[in-house]
Amino acid sequence: MSSALDPAPATVTRVHPQQRWDGELVVTHFDAPTRSMIFIAVHNTTLGPATGGTRMMHYASPDDALEDALRLARGMTLKFAVPRFACGGGKAVIAIPATLEPEARLGLLRRYGGLLKKLNGLFYTGPDVGTSTADMDVIAETGAPYVFSRSVGKGGAGDSSGFTALGVYRAILATFAQLDGEGSPAGKTVLIQGLGNVGRKLLAHLRRDGIRVRFSDVNPALRTEFAGDPQIEFIPPDEIHATPCDVFAPCALGGGLNAETIPQLRCRAVVGAANNQLQSPEMAERLRARGILYAPDFVVNIGGAMGITGMEAMGWSEADATREVEKVGATLREIYARAAAENITTLAAAHRLAEANLLSAQSRSP
Ligand code: NAI
Ligand code: PHE
Repeated sequence: MSSALDPAPATVTRVHPQQRWDGELVVTHFDAPTRSMIFIAVHNTTLGPATGGTRMMHYASPDDALEDALRLARGMTLKFAVPRFACGGGKAVIAIPATLEPEARLGLLRRYGGLLKKLNGLFYTGPDVGTSTADMDVIAETGAPYVFSRSVGKGGAGDSSGFTALGVYRAILATFAQLDGEGSPAGKTVLIQGLGNVGRKLLAHLRRDGIRVRFSDVNPALRTEFAGDPQIEFIPPDEIHATPCDVFAPCALGGGLNAETIPQLRCRAVVGAANNQLQSPEMAERLRARGILYAPDFVVNIGGAMGITGMEAMGWSEADATREVEKVGATLREIYARAAAENITTLAAAHRLAEANLLSAQSRSP
């Protein structure tokens, strides 16, 4: 008779996603009323409690959703570790059916809040793709105090995208300084992929500086929004990678930089908000081989998580949060300098810095 401890038969070769992951634990929950799978991945709690957004979308399979949660949670660890911010890395993914009625969705959010409450601080969350500040208000009905980025009226610091866009803007300015030396960025061109919450606010910063903006979005309603503005040009989504620009700013979904798209790029640098822009870490080498400067996404896009958790959990004022988020530019310059000095990719330099910070925090803890 076989027992649960018997080794798997030799014919079983499939590796579970968690076996390739270096994180701490994953909470898995099936929400029967909506037939949704919830994965809460706690990657690393060296610097503080696991914190990360809740992504809610439809996936082809539960394993795809789990893979996304694992990858995104690791990204949050790196994000916080680079500036030694007192949060650990985690992420929640709620894999919903292709269609979900609004009432059913509300029920799911409330039950998810109940799950966070039961976890008692194991994981703190905020918004991510597919969830909003209004959703955080609902989750907090049952999940407080483990929910960030509630609306201001409900006692939160509101939408995170303004801080994220500010960090991306500072990172773009730092990149221009790296490429061309100090001086006005007016007349340079930034290509934004995705004019959503972050992309739109980033556009406003760039426009103020006289930077030319090209943008694309799959939402056809946005195609004509800036028609007639000589500084802003719409690019069809399928032409995005081959469109000339100084900086390409991915602000839609991740995974867009791969073996097929990188050879098409006609930019000098990639600096954007999207999490996990590189399909795999090897893509950093490909960008470097093409002479394209890559600003690691987890360095660039910390603004929202940092600004909001700083204001809600660390007593920061909005001015404090703004000042801290603006430091993204200086941090990125440090990573560019380390990469050049050590003759490694900027991604490897950012990983090294994050890992060194985690190690030194570990050696200080009792
Ligand atoms: P959003 O959902 O408001 O905007 C995304 C936009 O991209 C939408 O307008 C969508 O129509 C567009 N889009 C989707 N696929 C596209 C494609 N193939 N080509 C062109 N446009 C496409 O999301 P948000 O909040 O602006 O975030 C953007 C990215 O930044 C996401 O990857 C998110 O994970 C990341 N991020 C956001 C933070 C925040 O504070 N909102 C914080 C850190 C990262
Ligand atoms: N979506 C944010 C990110 O990827 C996560 C976040 C936002 C966490 C706001 C806390 C507060 O960085």
